[in-house]
Amino acid sequence: MIDVLIDVQRGDCGKGKLSKKLIELGKPPWHRYAAVAKYNGGGNAGHAIWIDDIKHTTHYLTSAIYVKRSHVLIGPGCVLNPEEFLKEYEKFDKIFNLSGRVFIHPYTHIITNEHIRIDDVDNKLGTTKKGIGPAYTDKYARIGIRAEQISELKPFMLADRNNLLDKYADILMEGSQGWWLDIDWGDYPYVTSSHIHPGFAFATFGLPLYFLRTIYGVCKPYETYVGSNETLLTCEEEDANIIREVGKEYGETTGRPRKIGYLDITKLATAINATGVNQLIVNKCDVLEETKIFKILYSVPERKILRYSSIDNMEHDIEAYLAKYCCSLKTIIFSSDKEGKDIILI
Ligand code: IMP
Repeated sequence: MIDVLIDVQRGDCGKGKLSKKLIELGKPPWHRYAAVAKYNGGGNAGHAIWIDDIKHTTHYLTSAIYVKRSHVLIGPGCVLNPEEFLKEYEKFDKIFNLSGRVFIHPYTHIITNEHIRIDDVDNKLGTTKKGIGPAYTDKYARIGIRAEQISELKPFMLADRNNLLDKYADILMEGSQGWWLDIDWGDYPYVTSSHIHPGFAFATFGLPLYFLRTIYGVCKPYETYVGSNETLLTCEEEDANIIREVGKEYGETTGRPRKIGYLDITKLATAINATGVNQLIVNKCDVLEETKIFKILYSVPERKILRYSSIDNMEHDIEAYLAKYCCSLKTIIFSSDKEGKDIILI
């Protein structure tokens, strides 16, 4: 069966930690997922991982690296920079012994130096400059290069691509970025160049939808964004500065300070309803418990209402609204996972 994990805001809500937790829930040596797949994006995404109190970032490797029998799959909906991928593989192979555990789909598209050069000039959208947009442009113009054409990637080619679920009984599909960066449904043009929707995981891996089991969604009780859209989030500057410092809200890939906003609960409900999330994990609650800043935005037609709430009401306010408006939602978990700490599912 297939579970999907997505971010229902704009990325950076702790998907990496959550997928690590989900994979570890199984009983060793048979962990819960035989494979954890990345189904969209490329080096623009970044998971922070902590090994012996030292922070490392992965861009292509999923949380399957943590458990011995699980495989990393990089799907045809992704774009991949071979040089960056090989560097990352070599680094984490030394720590986790990844031999025979990392596979790239032959149809995955390649990011070239020319893509990176184009992404770097005239960067009005504030992209990560990793060549993502230009690589997808070539893919859809049908002039792209696929992973099967690159000799250095041969050892990683996924051989039995047509029978994925014969080989892997349970797969966790991990979406990169977050719903409001989706190419169609995000705040266009301030979006990335791929789909975040769980349906894309199935479409791109060529799998029928009846294998879907659970959709996990992850968010924070506040919002963050990195990019050039200056009008996107609502927050007093003083509150934003405090939340940014306590939550260490700086980009994993580029180090840029993230813009901070109060929780827009109407947008959150819209994202949950569009993607069909069954289990929501509200991460980094401890950041607001420490800062004591919790304000919540409700959108009504043509205007937004900002409600000054108290941190003691945070769980109640979120739960009450989402329970009323999101019919796919079965569970909400409030979790704490400040930078460097493991996620705690309460
Ligand atoms: P691109 O994906 O590099 O083309 O960037 C497009 C927009 O998506 C920019 O605003 C980036 O900051 C944002 N973005 C891309 N990947 C991530 C991510 O993993 N987390 C948060 N924002 C991202």
